[in-house]
Amino acid sequence: MSVLVFSLALSFLVYNTECSREGKLVLIENPGEAVCLDGSPPGYYFRKGFGSGVNSWVVHLQGGAWCYNKKDCLARSRSYLGSSRDWPQIMIFNNAGMFSDSKEKNPDFYNWNMAQVQYCDGASFAGYVEKPVKVHGTDIYFRGFKILQAIIQSLMSKGMKNAQEFILTGCSAGGLATYLHADYIRSLFPPSVKYRAISDAGYFIDAPNKHGFKYMRYLFKNVFYLQNCSGGVDQDCIAAYESTHETWKCFMAQYTYRYISSPIFTLNSMNDIWQLKNILGIKCLPPKCTESDMKHFYNFVENFNKASEPIFSLAKDGAFLDSCLIHCQALISIPWRNFFVKGQSASTTFSNWYFNRDGSKSVKDCKYPCNKSCKSIV
Ligand SMILES: *[C@@H]1O[C@H](CO)[C@@H](O)[C@H](O)[C@H]1NC(C)=O
Ligand SMILES: *[C@@H]1O[C@H](CO)[C@@H](O)[C@H](O)[C@H]1NC(C)=O
Repeated sequence: MSVLVFSLALSFLVYNTECSREGKLVLIENPGEAVCLDGSPPGYYFRKGFGSGVNSWVVHLQGGAWCYNKKDCLARSRSYLGSSRDWPQIMIFNNAGMFSDSKEKNPDFYNWNMAQVQYCDGASFAGYVEKPVKVHGTDIYFRGFKILQAIIQSLMSKGMKNAQEFILTGCSAGGLATYLHADYIRSLFPPSVKYRAISDAGYFIDAPNKHGFKYMRYLFKNVFYLQNCSGGVDQDCIAAYESTHETWKCFMAQYTYRYISSPIFTLNSMNDIWQLKNILGIKCLPPKCTESDMKHFYNFVENFNKASEPIFSLAKDGAFLDSCLIHCQALISIPWRNFFVKGQSASTTFSNWYFNRDGSKSVKDCKYPCNKSCKSIV
């Protein structure tokens, strides 16, 4: 009994010091065409802003890779990344970096309205196929772009229509979605709104794997055409690639980047561990790799370096490219506040950019392994 009381007291204490107030699940009522892969309604977790943050909003697009073919999407439709059936009512934004409600740890955004949009379409909120698709006798739905529209509309009715400041963000597949939809979402706000975007770990590069095959490009092409994404990505990009029949490139950060007119900040590791595993195809973690895999690894970092040139080409944009072995870092305290590049954290660099403060707004690390501040929290 006393153990129970003690652990309850302890969890209360931990809750008070470490956790942020939770987000509550909002499911879209009468979603119409805007449904998850399995036909269930989409939704988001919402935490209301307070004090000076009542009219400021951060909307985070959840990640979780993609489904690459019909069978894969059918399997996903039975998981929490394809169905809202089993989503909990509450999400605790624990240890949450940019989502933390601690004034001390997150002084710039702690009291803003926070929404985390749940990912259940498998194509970075970009697809639209009108009719349900039958796979092994089961209907599945490719409606990511409709989901995005329905959720933005719902958030508008929750007070976002009065927003004075708005930050779009997302990690991984949601980080890619941030590039894809930055201009579209901006178009839903009056021009007087201060509108910015920050993509976290969404800069998936078009690089060969260790066997010399551009496998990631092949996968992205599959997703793009399977889910008919041409209407749900950056339309300036589509216009530019239409004549060469390469519109699928608009599903990749490095190609669509130059068509984004909204101010955007890129947060990414130059040796992102998801990319090392899935794009390069090595199974080891540097430096514990064979000599040959280390060679592929350095090659990949070189490729990332080249592919990231657009990020530094426009004065409106900011960046924090580190060389830590990580994937997604804005919602985790340590990588957000305690990984440093040129003496600055991601959090400080982003705020310098967002608030136009003194100090660098765009930094790039030296190449791996100059990772003095990276803690291994892989
Ligand atoms: C593909 O997307 C376009 C644009 O969003 C839409 O007009 C068209 O109907 C879609 N095609 C199918 C087969 O659903
Ligand atoms: C940092 O680099 C050292 C080698 O210098 C390596 O042992 C360690 O695993 C690296 N850690 C991260 C998080 O990158």
